[in-house]
Amino acid sequence: MSEGLYAEAKELLVGGVNSPVRAAVRPYPFFVKEAKGPYVFTEDGERLVDYVLGYGPLILGHAHERVLKAIVEQAERGWLYGAPTRVEVELARKVISHVMPGGKVRFVNSGTEATMTAVRLARGFTGRNRIIKFDGCYHGAHDYVLVQAGSAASEYGVPNSLGVPREAALLTLVARYNDLDSAERAAKAAQDDLAAIIVEPVIGNMGVIPPERGFLRGLREIADRYGALLIFDEVITGFRISMGGAQEYYGVRADIVTLGKIIGGGLPVGAIVSRKDIMDSLTPIGQVFNAGTFNGNPLTMAAGLATIEILDTTDALSRASKAAEEVSEELERAGEGLVTVNRVESMLQAFFTQRPVKDADGARSSNRELYVRFHEALRRLGVFIPPSQFESLFTSLAHDDEAINLTLDAIRKAMRGLR
Ligand SMILES: Cc1ncc(COP(=O)(O)O)c(C=O)c1O
Repeated sequence: MSEGLYAEAKELLVGGVNSPVRAAVRPYPFFVKEAKGPYVFTEDGERLVDYVLGYGPLILGHAHERVLKAIVEQAERGWLYGAPTRVEVELARKVISHVMPGGKVRFVNSGTEATMTAVRLARGFTGRNRIIKFDGCYHGAHDYVLVQAGSAASEYGVPNSLGVPREAALLTLVARYNDLDSAERAAKAAQDDLAAIIVEPVIGNMGVIPPERGFLRGLREIADRYGALLIFDEVITGFRISMGGAQEYYGVRADIVTLGKIIGGGLPVGAIVSRKDIMDSLTPIGQVFNAGTFNGNPLTMAAGLATIEILDTTDALSRASKAAEEVSEELERAGEGLVTVNRVESMLQAFFTQRPVKDADGARSSNRELYVRFHEALRRLGVFIPPSQFESLFTSLAHDDEAINLTLDAIRKAMRGLR
């Protein structure tokens, strides 16, 4: 049972978990026994409709047959060679064709590694040091981006983690999302030392916060005016809001795109995609260092390739979006007067506030205690949404009518209980 496992885990793992948001489920995290399609099955015998989906990667739902087959077939041929493989070339071709035709990619093992490498690459390419990020955007757990970050960093109130040297944080200027004036002020403050502007084109780590009209284009212009590179962190949005990600969806080109989550089909992954001249600054051609024992590992590459092939040849993205639309509409109906719902395609979040949520301050000022009670009520009714307001709900191809109807009913009951 989860309670006993958690007691054991707490003796052995910090907080009983390996990533902090997992400890936010009260009174203790449920332990998962298995998962299939839109459902997770807990050690306590519950079946829950899953809107967490591993925090984003599982766009096809759990244990999709074709992805499973690709992983097993690869595993039978061995799973780590320390030498190149055909499958990484095939996945590279797919990713580049959607994200940056004519460009190149480097596969790494997490979104954190992707943004860490992207920032180093931007610095190496421009010969400059400073970067701008936005309050509430989360780009992973490395020093230069752990400044006013979203996700768990926000939930736990550690905008600047202990252990991040002040000197490192000083190189990161923070601007307000959806506020071009504040981005311009930060760019001015960086003078001629601005290497990059990094942004989640849709914030997915403060709940969901979409860009207002003109915001991303404005960032493109500021980056150009100051000779800096624009980095879109599409670890969440890549292959979710459209096959070409936010660049395609909003019609704004970035210089560097970071990817993760979906492109590994649910196995650990990250990637940096950019123009050839920028990418060739990386080792072994250039002098910006990146390496990794597990970079481009065959199991991940096989799972990622199978996933993208399915996205390419089916209406999976639009079906996931449709499921999210139904959930959003019910949240709005049942939560009228209580919540504001933000959604972009298959990512969404309900904020317990009546004001529009356009930036991190808006998200922070919503009623988080009510959100947690809502999460707990849904859990009792068989639906798992993130335990923190500062995360997104995700839908997948696997969210069929049965799962959605169960969810809509649970939303109605849970909202009634909160009034
Ligand atoms: C936008 C964004 N960037 C980077 C990361 C870090 O990715 P990872 O957890 O794989 O290190 C995340 C993780 O949620 C993310 O949402």
